[in-house]
Amino acid sequence: MFARFVVPAILAAVAGGLVPYPVEAQEKVEPEGVVAYRIAVMRTLGAQMMGIKTALTETPEFRDNLVWHARILQDASKILPDLFPEGSNAPPSRTLPTVWEKKEEFEAATKKMIELSAAFLETAQGGDPDATMAAFARMGKQGCGGCHETFRSKQKR
Ligand code: HEC
Repeated sequence: MFARFVVPAILAAVAGGLVPYPVEAQEKVEPEGVVAYRIAVMRTLGAQMMGIKTALTETPEFRDNLVWHARILQDASKILPDLFPEGSNAPPSRTLPTVWEKKEEFEAATKKMIELSAAFLETAQGGDPDATMAAFARMGKQGCGGCHETFRSKQKR
């Protein structure tokens, strides 16, 4: 009874996706070319944000480096528009086709990032930790988050 009915039912449930597959079971595709490069740049941005947050909240001895982090973010923001040639979202890219479907909106998102990283740099140079924290939060939410919300798939790799 068990082998004849229950086991096939369990298998059907698994095959039908009712039971989530373990992550290892998914085929892993390595990013290549533009996608690999873009991911590398994005990870650099993520690393700067981590460094800034730590310097602002836990390690005041590194606050002098905030201007350096801010410059990296600002320089990187300026190259963002070049990182998305039309159709460059082959798996495992999380870039959504909205990048090319909503061209003006995407351009606005890159401009916003450039503006907010410039504002963050200026505030960091001013040296006021509270103002720097506020500019950091704005940049993360509206700059990074603003673009990810519309142009990056929620699906993690
Ligand atoms: C103009 C749009 C845009 C802006 C601004 C932007 N990102 Fe991204 N980001 C993307 C897109 C699109 C992807 C998906 C890239 C892909 O997989 O092809 C991505 C991916 C990432 C990833 C995932 C990389 C990985 O390991 O797959 C990180 C981390 C990231 N961004 C961090 C940031 C941070 C931090 C900022 C702000 C300082 C930022 N991004 C600003 C569009 C943007």
